[in-house]
Amino acid sequence: MELVSNLPVYRTVPEKYIFPPDKRPANDTVNHSINLPVIDLKGGCIDSDGRDEIIRDIMKAGKEFGFFQVINHGISTKTIDNMLEVCENFFKMPAQEKEPYYSNDMSKAFFLNSSTQYDKSQTRYWRDYLRITSYPIEEFIDQWPEKPEEFREVLSKYTLRVREFASKILKLIAEGLGLDKDYFSGDLSKGNIKMEVNYYPPCPDPSLTMGLLPHCDRQLITVLAQGTAATGLQAKYKQKWINVKPIPGAFVVNFGHQLEIVTNGILKSVEHRALTNSTVARTSIATMTMPTMDCLIAPAKELVNEKNPPMYKEFIFRDFIKAYDAALANREGVLEFFKLY
Ligand code: OGA
Ligand code: NI
Repeated sequence: MELVSNLPVYRTVPEKYIFPPDKRPANDTVNHSINLPVIDLKGGCIDSDGRDEIIRDIMKAGKEFGFFQVINHGISTKTIDNMLEVCENFFKMPAQEKEPYYSNDMSKAFFLNSSTQYDKSQTRYWRDYLRITSYPIEEFIDQWPEKPEEFREVLSKYTLRVREFASKILKLIAEGLGLDKDYFSGDLSKGNIKMEVNYYPPCPDPSLTMGLLPHCDRQLITVLAQGTAATGLQAKYKQKWINVKPIPGAFVVNFGHQLEIVTNGILKSVEHRALTNSTVARTSIATMTMPTMDCLIAPAKELVNEKNPPMYKEFIFRDFIKAYDAALANREGVLEFFKLY
């Protein structure tokens, strides 16, 4: 077991975490003058006035950035902070407490791992992560750890809240696309909910390491909570990177490949990456809304016509996952299998 959260305090970065120069963070330009749009959900009760405006703003942000932040969504900052804290406390436990969970067996509903190996160079990310299957809760709760003490309770509550939030956003998006508001409510979003909890300890030299290399998410939609400790997440915007600045209590929303395909490219799955920093540990929680494994995915018929022919083939979600893993999450590599043009 090799975890960055249990490394001794180094003054320099150990060799195996140093990326080749062309993969290092400084290789691409960062545009510091652009911020992601922030959508105010006005408490989350959006059946009344202002709904059309919110839908318009989400669609505008979605089309331009594929990423946006959401505030006043009705989920208390405390619920989010409790979840971040309990996860952070897990990583801070001594190595021997974590060891039983160390695995990369995807069939487990809870496992801990580190530094996904990237391509043949085997360079390691400066990141540990938990992979959790969190919904349906009753089906998986027995596999979640009992330590930290409140882990199961906090995760259950967080799962239900974020699930509700994601479904609300998907309804607004469906409406914004001119589809039935329940277009995404069936098998497209009824797979198990998975979470990826990322933990990036302070790094002696962030310019040599990566938290996560550029990738797009495989799922339909991602809801990310990031603490306010540090900036680390960056999204691609017009060939440059922009920082996704932490806003207390906000969720970052981004579209996965499935939403891009179902909308026939109207909403794009955008590349993002995570950098490390030298001062504080940063924790982020990505909650993934997924199709069921047997779900047939294809561009929505309503969005396809003579002028906009389908850009992607039909496929079963299970096959997409295989291709995604084979392409190491590289955007073009993944889409290569499913693109018609
Ligand atoms: C992810 C991800 C970004 C972050 O887990 O897919 O993109 O800020 N995380 O940790
Ligand atoms: Ni991601």
